[in-house]
Amino acid sequence: MPVPRETFLSNVWREGIFKDKVLFCTGGAGTICSMQVRAFVALGGNACITGRNAEKTEKGAADIASVRPGAKVIGIVADVRDMKAMDAAAERCATELGSIDFAIAGAAGNFLAPMSQLSSNAFKTVMEIDTLGSFHTAKAVLPYLAQSVQKHKNSGKAEPTGTGGRIIFISASFHFRGQPLQAHVMAAKAAVDQISSSVAMEYGPHGITSNVITPGPIAGTEGLERLSKSDERSVKETKAKIPVGRWGEVKEIADATVFLFSEAGSYVNGHVLVVDGGQWKTTGAD
Ligand code: HXC
Repeated sequence: MPVPRETFLSNVWREGIFKDKVLFCTGGAGTICSMQVRAFVALGGNACITGRNAEKTEKGAADIASVRPGAKVIGIVADVRDMKAMDAAAERCATELGSIDFAIAGAAGNFLAPMSQLSSNAFKTVMEIDTLGSFHTAKAVLPYLAQSVQKHKNSGKAEPTGTGGRIIFISASFHFRGQPLQAHVMAAKAAVDQISSSVAMEYGPHGITSNVITPGPIAGTEGLERLSKSDERSVKETKAKIPVGRWGEVKEIADATVFLFSEAGSYVNGHVLVVDGGQWKTTGAD
């Protein structure tokens, strides 16, 4: 069933701002990332999404492509933990779609577990999907993002911005203040934030920007569903502490993405954009 546009994009963006641009997104069939990619494609771009599950990835790509006639969206099966697979995916994306101008390192794994129940392999698994996977994603796409910036420079176009060479990492806010049952995720996402900072410092001089989006509790996501199933009381308490008094919508993450990728976000580099209704400020407070 087609997803109504107002569920993944606000009516404030100019049509076609990503025309002829290409987005590479890992974990692109997931609830949040698929809406980020959808927004990009609806505004004129083409995209490549990667995932571990072939059926989910291929269906995800087809669903995203349906938002705009003529849109090209390819799904590639690749595990972010495998550097060679990420290199191959980036190469295929650039070959089939012509470039990689934007990237989202979105693949993540999570579950709720107390330290006492967290095996060494469980901790390592999340570190490898989130942290190593984000590092691999950046390594695979950065040469193409640099080409995108160079291509624009060579074109002689007057406008210096809004043309590509941007990467966004998807993180979490648990590690800002501390959260039970999330030792693995806190460690992994803290590292992801710092990978983004390094990219921002090292690649800023090449015209590439790197930022983090930190989604709060977003309705309809696997993370929130798991929390709901595991602890109903905790869900009520969590919601009560969100200053704006509600869960977030996937659209609110997609809109933040469009902002960072757009000309309007051109001077934002090395930033962590928390999109959580102010939740992290109150987490842990009575
Ligand atoms: C304790 C667990 C566990 C659990 C898995 N493990 N689930 N330990 N509690 N609930 C342990 C396993 O026992 C094993 O350790 C190790 O983790 C690896 O598990 P596998 O199933 O072999 O790994 P894999 O198939 O690679 O799956 C990775 C995964 C899985 C992270 C465990 O949940 C996954 O694929 N998730 C992807 C989708 C996802 O999580 N999306 C939500 C992202 S939301 P042993 O010692 O037995 O070998 C998000 C935002 C935060 O990130 C939301 C906050 C609520």
